Amino acid sequence: MAVDLTKTDSFELGAIRQLFPALSVSGPTGKPWVYLDGPGGTQVPASVAESISQAILFANANRGASFATSQAVDAIMSRAGQAAAALLGVDSPDRVVFGQNMTSLAFHAADAIIPTLKPGDEVVVSNLDHDANVAPWVHAAQRSGATVRRLDFNRQNMTLSPAQLADTIGPKTRLIAFTAASNALGSLTPVPELVRVARTSPALVIVDGTHYAPHLLPKVDEWDVDLFFCSAYKFFGPHVGLMAGKLEVLNRLQPAKVRPACNLLPVRWMTGTQNHEGIAGVTAAIEYLASLGNGESLRQKLVAAYHRIADHERELMEVFLHRLGSQQAWTLTGVQVPDPSRRVATFALRGPVDPATASRKLAEKGICSYAGNFYALPVTEALGLESKGGFLRVGAVHYNTVDEIHRLWDELQALKA
Ligand SMILES: Cc1ncc(COP(=O)(O)O)c(C=O)c1O
Repeated sequence: MAVDLTKTDSFELGAIRQLFPALSVSGPTGKPWVYLDGPGGTQVPASVAESISQAILFANANRGASFATSQAVDAIMSRAGQAAAALLGVDSPDRVVFGQNMTSLAFHAADAIIPTLKPGDEVVVSNLDHDANVAPWVHAAQRSGATVRRLDFNRQNMTLSPAQLADTIGPKTRLIAFTAASNALGSLTPVPELVRVARTSPALVIVDGTHYAPHLLPKVDEWDVDLFFCSAYKFFGPHVGLMAGKLEVLNRLQPAKVRPACNLLPVRWMTGTQNHEGIAGVTAAIEYLASLGNGESLRQKLVAAYHRIADHERELMEVFLHRLGSQQAWTLTGVQVPDPSRRVATFALRGPVDPATASRKLAEKGICSYAGNFYALPVTEALGLESKGGFLRVGAVHYNTVDEIHRLWDELQALKA
């Protein structure tokens, strides 16, 4: 029986929260900490920690030998590939690469892309992105002599426009990188429409799903994306990066590798010995998510689970935006409607207190938040806020409660300049 997420603060949400040991740790006021730092990294269910612990205690070997612990590692990697393929929506585990984190995987891919670029080629990056989906491609352009073009975001709806992308690309465009969701403003981008436009050029289409995957289920194949990145610590797992790609792309590009390492997918992209225990934790995180939904296959369970997650997060967004609208001191940069097709529950605020001070004062009240640019440097630069401390960012995920959103607003309203 799947857990019912649709009733906020219901017994079911209580049951979910009990799976996350950190959620019952008391903060400085004696009440449990309120984790609104999800965009910077989510808490994990105990099952994730147990999987990591089991793997490192009892499956601690390198791969490919005939003894039991080595075979157990092979099984961990194979299961993780299957689970991640189901989460990302790709048809084969051969197309899923694990790595240190999203940023390292993107730089690794960028280095493999450099020889495919030449002077005169164009690389398009967006101003809505985390720098991890900008800097690697700019690096590739700089090393190859290609030209970088910037796709700005629309200041009304804080997202990327397919029409503007169409104006930015042409026959010389070789790479287009954009995010599926902004980790600063919470906006979703119209991925299918952007990809459709991108396909009118010969470019490689790269999507960062790091901020998308905790809230909505990626559809890498359906979206027709060439390379897709995300990071498990943002979706209730450990610090492991993931990259999914088209077979043709992953086979055609030549990643840097040591000579004895296998040249077959996905291993040809995975430098050195992997963090096997962390990767066991990724499987546990995906299985946890799947446990929130009913269905035959892992993918079907994930589809159902993410519907429930979106329903609950819509309610959190409604309460957040209602409280926002009932005061004047704090202003939001981002979509002001609680529509899960347009935004996730990540909010960028500015108010009477500078973001860093506000975040520190919230911490004193037991509320976790972040201040600054969150490495979404193009966003704060584009909005002229980089020299002004950026934003106070609060981000809810499915384990957060309506009560916590009220606690946040009560504290925000008590903050005076
Ligand atoms: C949208 C987005 N992309 C990329 C990254 C980088 O991920 P990682 O820390 O795994 O390198 C982050 C991390 O904050 C992010 O939020």
